[in-house]
Amino acid sequence: QTDLPLVGKRVLITAGPTREQVDPVRYFTNYSSGKMGYAIARAAARMGADVTLVSGPTALEKPAGVRFVPVESTEEMFQAVMKEYQAMDLVIKSAAVADYTPRIKYEEKVKKNNGSWSVEMEKTTDILSVLGEKKEQQVLVGFAAETGDLERYALDKMKRKNLDMIVANNVIQEGAGFSADTNRVVIFKKDGSAKEYPLLSKDKVAEEVLLQAMELMHL
Ligand code: PMT
Repeated sequence: QTDLPLVGKRVLITAGPTREQVDPVRYFTNYSSGKMGYAIARAAARMGADVTLVSGPTALEKPAGVRFVPVESTEEMFQAVMKEYQAMDLVIKSAAVADYTPRIKYEEKVKKNNGSWSVEMEKTTDILSVLGEKKEQQVLVGFAAETGDLERYALDKMKRKNLDMIVANNVIQEGAGFSADTNRVVIFKKDGSAKEYPLLSKDKVAEEVLLQAMELMHL
């Protein structure tokens, strides 16, 4: 054991929301602040890893000592992640990726009228599922943002997306999930083990996520 257990390891983290454009002045997004993913990126860098952070739009400062790849939409995040994936030892997908995007992206601002407006949405690419299909040496870690039945949904996602580990948070629990400085998580591994943590700072959760992932990397 050293203070720098991840020296020589390439780690890819995704963080933040994605932003799905409707027209030049409007978009769909979600409440992700990027805090969870940035905390993981900082912790991995402190442990000596070679870190790439692919981030949707956030108000946070870029972590020092990491390679920073800013993206906006799910499609851009997908392209950026695919470019990096092959060389990685560990991938942690904490980003809150939009599941749907407007089918039509208008080039000009849609004018308001007196009636209502429906925006037709189509499915985005499930980035994590594609990574799961193409997995080779990488240890692949997903997150699951749930509002109930945490275990059932998280285990289902881990299996369907071919993950090694999943970090589940109930995003309607006090102090957990989106935007808070704290989180409350349960970490499930594919060997069937589960570890439940109390309410912790996102920095502390980040360290625990990395320690659990390192076990899977035999470090
Ligand atoms: O950013 P913060 O404000 O700090 O909030 C942290 C968080 C709540 C965003 C984070 O802890 C979290 O739960 N991240 C995952 C959010 C999410 O999109 O969960 P999901 O259950 O919808 O998706 C499951 C997994 O599939 C995630 O790893 C997600 O990155 C991935 N996914 C989902 C959809 C998609 N099209 N592509 C994906 O890769």
